[in-house]
Amino acid sequence: MTDRYCVFGHPVGHSKSPVIHAAFADQGGDDIEYVAIEAPLDDFAGAWRRFVAEGGRGANVTVPFKEAAFRLCDTLSERARRAGAVNTLVLGGNGLTYGDTTDGIGLVHDLKRHGVELARARILVLGAGGAVRGVLEPLLAEEPASLRVANRTAAKAEALAADFRDLGEIAGGGFDAVAGPFDLVINGTSASLAGDLPPLPDDLFAPGATAYDMMYGAEPTVFLRWAAEHGARGVDGLGMLVEQAAESFFQWRGRRPDTAPVLERLRQALSVS
Ligand code: ATR
Repeated sequence: MTDRYCVFGHPVGHSKSPVIHAAFADQGGDDIEYVAIEAPLDDFAGAWRRFVAEGGRGANVTVPFKEAAFRLCDTLSERARRAGAVNTLVLGGNGLTYGDTTDGIGLVHDLKRHGVELARARILVLGAGGAVRGVLEPLLAEEPASLRVANRTAAKAEALAADFRDLGEIAGGGFDAVAGPFDLVINGTSASLAGDLPPLPDDLFAPGATAYDMMYGAEPTVFLRWAAEHGARGVDGLGMLVEQAAESFFQWRGRRPDTAPVLERLRQALSVS
């Protein structure tokens, strides 16, 4: 029988998840169906219940439902509990719903794929919203030398860092308090969407540093262009998207898909679109 999965969002038409998961399924000859569902803004739990009643086994969750998904879960992974958000729902054999967040581990896998050394690295993360909260636990688990969170609203970065202080060397503040050099700078703000760049010092990057933007597009983001001008290697978030999907797929199917060919196809599609 065909196993059913979906991605919930609002809007959700732009989601690449159906294409990614269809490609993962093809690799192993899995008989699955994966669709995009636009859930109502006021009743996410109802949308999940209906999907389960129709044979749904698991789902991805995207904007704006990650917190609503977190609230409906019967059990949670430790990293989802820390993130306060869920991007992966799994229906257990007992009928209970388990929630996980795979964004952070997706980021870590993508960084490693690019050869970025995280242990003992000096890391700066820009932004203090949901996207950043979701990646701090997996980053700290790699035992960097230090992790600094910088945000336009300094108090949010300070509060966020305080929530993770028991896990490692982490501090938060405003952009004005940022002092390099850093081996890795991750942009988790939505500033790129508006074509904005956070105010950053010119000497931000250590030699050989990597700049990572969680956003992606056909062209490099403003942040990645700025990073290239200041001597850093740039990586965009398309790989993170594919890696987080792979981790969700693994949770559902117990098989790790091969991400490289899927990422290559998405990259090609992006450049011709
Ligand atoms: P997400 O879930 O994508 O993280 P969010 O919770 O709304 O979305 O957070 C957006 C982040 O981008 C915040 O850190 C925000 O900074 P503030 O907390 O000061 O609002 C940051 N951000 C958005 N637009 C920005 C801009 N033009 N310049 C700098 N930071 C920006």
